[in-house]
Amino acid sequence: ALGPLVDTFGRAVSYLRVSVTDRCDFRCVYCMSEHMTFLPKPDLLTLEELDRLCSAFINRGVRKLRLTGGEPLVRRDVMTLFRSLSRHLETGRLEELTVTTNGSQLARYAADLAACGVKRINVSIDTLDADKFRAITRWGDLGKVLDGVKAAQKAGIRVKINAVALKDVNEHEIGSMMEWAHGEGHDLSLIEVMPLGEVGAERVDQYLPLSRVREQLSERYTLIDIDYRTGGPARYMQVKETGGRLGFITPLTHNFCEGCNRVRVTCTGTLYMCLGQEDAADLRSPLRASPDDGVLQAAIDSAIFRKPKGHDFIIDRQTRQPAVHRHMSTTGG
Ligand code: GTP
Ligand code: 5AD
Ligand code: SF4
Repeated sequence: ALGPLVDTFGRAVSYLRVSVTDRCDFRCVYCMSEHMTFLPKPDLLTLEELDRLCSAFINRGVRKLRLTGGEPLVRRDVMTLFRSLSRHLETGRLEELTVTTNGSQLARYAADLAACGVKRINVSIDTLDADKFRAITRWGDLGKVLDGVKAAQKAGIRVKINAVALKDVNEHEIGSMMEWAHGEGHDLSLIEVMPLGEVGAERVDQYLPLSRVREQLSERYTLIDIDYRTGGPARYMQVKETGGRLGFITPLTHNFCEGCNRVRVTCTGTLYMCLGQEDAADLRSPLRASPDDGVLQAAIDSAIFRKPKGHDFIIDRQTRQPAVHRHMSTTGG
């Protein structure tokens, strides 16, 4: 039988992130350029192919599966995929089926997600100021997203809020966002902005090291180290005053690659072994070459063998060029 996926550094791959579409109904300034060309439909894996691909990874020891985008909930019939993947939760081979979403379609889908065994989701909200929210997403409606968060909560799904830390944009709002999130019973994770794709924004100038945010928060709050783990890259602190959890995702100030347990597949079936590297493997051809998974499994094995030690994001202030040229929305973060 096929064994678990382990790379040359001894790291087991137990977490698969699958981008089900490159499309999104927002255009966050650090993620996409204003005018994006999206992939033609025939390039996309079908929902059946996506299911087969995920199942092949689950056969190799993947225990945590996260659907991403673009915005995953804008993919047509995406609930069909969730429903069919939920069979792996029932057999106990998959421990967590989840999604990272911008929340715009969440009010509509929350109950369906809960019915598919989704227990915890991540929703991206960078600001609670509706005008700023519109500026960051280029036209997103904050009210609709907050309605989605409420609907998820009502359906019994735990929500974690993701906020990309942006200098001068939400920098001075982080404390109040945390108070809000914790007051509503949500964890909050802060993320350092990563240099992926030509986005045509002032991302270099907006980079805010989370070491600084942590210092600022420490003046007003007591942050206590805890060893809560989700399988993702965040390090969590407990905030004494609010009783809530605050996560720090620090690809630039504190590299977490030695503990990396994840790989990513795009909606065209391209496997990226690291978010911060260009190397990739085509899984669509082996998937389509034969209904038997042998060829596919061999392609997965040879790709995992190439998983790099880590990323080395640097924001080059001289050239202002991104370290990685594909957009964040290609790999879903
Ligand atoms: P949890 O299951 O809640 O821990 O989620 P997660 O943090 O794994 O996933 P999420 O989709 O919420 O991602 C949050 C941020 O972490 C995004 O900006 C991702 O791009 C980033 N991230 C996740 N994994 C990696 C990684 O391996 N390398 C880097 N550089 N960033 C990552
Ligand atoms: N740097 C850091 N995080 C990003 N995200 C999107 N683009 C970037 C970037 N350039 C975040 C989104 C979402 C998660 C999947 O990735 O805000 O929360
Ligand atoms: Fe869409 Fe998410 Fe990218 Fe924003 S960060 S444009 S919501 S994919």
